[in-house]
Amino acid sequence: MPDSFDLIVIGAGPGGYVCAIRAAQLGMKVACVEKRETLGGTCLNIGCIPSKALLQSSENFEELAHKFADHGIQVEGIKLDLARMQARKGEVVSANVKGVEFLFRKNKVTWLKGAGTITAPGKVSVDGTEYETKNIVIATGSESIPLRGVEVDEKRIVTSTGALELESVPKHLVVIGGGVIGLELGSVWRRLGAEVTVVEFLDRILPGMDDETAKAFQRVLQKQGFKFKLGSKVTGAAPGADGLAVTVEPAKGGAAETLNADVVLVAIGRRPYTEGLGLEAAGVELDERRRVKTDGHFATNVPGIYAIGDVIAGAMLAHKAEDEGVAVAEILAGQHGHVNYGAIPGVVYTWPEVAAVGETEEELKARGQAYRVGKFPFTANGRARAMGDTDGFVKILADKDTDRMLGAHILGPDAGTLIAELALAMEFGASAEDVARTCHAHPSLNEAVKEAALAVDARALHI
Ligand code: FAD
Ligand code: NAI
Repeated sequence: MPDSFDLIVIGAGPGGYVCAIRAAQLGMKVACVEKRETLGGTCLNIGCIPSKALLQSSENFEELAHKFADHGIQVEGIKLDLARMQARKGEVVSANVKGVEFLFRKNKVTWLKGAGTITAPGKVSVDGTEYETKNIVIATGSESIPLRGVEVDEKRIVTSTGALELESVPKHLVVIGGGVIGLELGSVWRRLGAEVTVVEFLDRILPGMDDETAKAFQRVLQKQGFKFKLGSKVTGAAPGADGLAVTVEPAKGGAAETLNADVVLVAIGRRPYTEGLGLEAAGVELDERRRVKTDGHFATNVPGIYAIGDVIAGAMLAHKAEDEGVAVAEILAGQHGHVNYGAIPGVVYTWPEVAAVGETEEELKARGQAYRVGKFPFTANGRARAMGDTDGFVKILADKDTDRMLGAHILGPDAGTLIAELALAMEFGASAEDVARTCHAHPSLNEAVKEAALAVDARALHI
């Protein structure tokens, strides 16, 4: 007779594995179903972690090749050992996924290896064996959206998964989609020597990010050598006389042109993954974008079935999935699990980095919110000058009347670390003045955050 559980989580990505651990901490008997050979989901295996490993390695390479000379350090004979770089990435991934296995053992979470199907409320079948459970949490994540006419083989026409595995540096990489994946992985291969052209359907990169910040970021990327074809779409990619022939058309119609590429990266977004889960038979409703429909407490329309992470609405981010995993476990334990969607940071791990929390100027305008803006450039920050990293700025948006912080946007060195202070401030309902009156160490990049907060009241000190 197979075991029965208080909770079965389907999917061991950051949403699912964190949910399983938190539920076990709260005293539940928990199993987590994962069909991949290793735990950790998209994030640890083919997403956040391997991409950040390559971003770090490629940034080191670029610094050595192009930035050290300015500091008076002459380096000769720099050579790329891509095989070693890729092997190191594999080691980083391996250490992380094994870490989750250790955490499962430590917290007595059972890993049910195989593909899970919901056969009925309270019943999950894993490769033919049926388990009973009081509750089910769906955490099956997402997959790349395919593009008609551009057939992925993960060798020459790749998604992010293939782009993380290339065995040689492409001469010309065409990236379809100027979103987070396109710009992060485009940066990796550009730093290692590829010519990179980004074809983006809209007339801007990073839709959803603050417009002014995204425009400034695009200028920085162009300075680094990125080429952009905005307002354009790819309608086909096929082997041609000179590598792949990529057909690009203006989004609003017009004459097509052909780009020659040796690798094409399709990065036009991700969609929820629910294949083989048995949702239809179980009667679980999906929304118009085929995401699992949930209420404010992560419950689906079927009692006892919940969902979190990329498979439900909201930002497709690992930390959003994790926080939802904790919240739903706490709700199931009778506590008041909650996620504050207004204070979830988003980071693009390029160099400089781009980071945001809260609303953009465009969103504030659209809802008629009166606001004040405080901006401070890194050119006026002593530490950024010492580092030689002066591109970008900190921008803080605050309520015009109450001074409560409504959003923050940073383009600059270590923006992803700097944003944490502002996310915390927003979580505590801080005003810009609260941040401005907090003592910030000198000389630090964080002083640019303080100065932007001062600038909200037009009293920045160093500009
Ligand atoms: P996933 O991580 O997708 O995990 C779902 C798991 O469920 C998978 O392991 C899958 O095998 C398993 N599964 C699916 N169906 C079944 C089934 N029926 N039975 C058993 N198992 C099943 N986010 C960030 O916040 N920061 C980043 O830097 C970042 N970088 C990224 C880089 C790339 C290249 C990509 C692709 C994504 C990146 N993301 C990043 C997004 C992040 O990976 C996702 O938001 C996150 O992984 C979502 O977590 P999840 O638990 O919802 O799903
Ligand atoms: P995305 O949604 O960030 O960007 C996709 C881009 O492709 C958009 O700019 C869109 O306008 C464009 N596009 C769509 N169709 C197109 C077409 N036919 N031709 C040209 N352009 C087209 O999606 P992306 O980059 O694939 O990333 C998927 C998800 O993964 C994101 O939601 C992101 O949250 C997550 N992710 C997060 C990272 C991070 O937090 N650092 C890193 C990588 C991924």
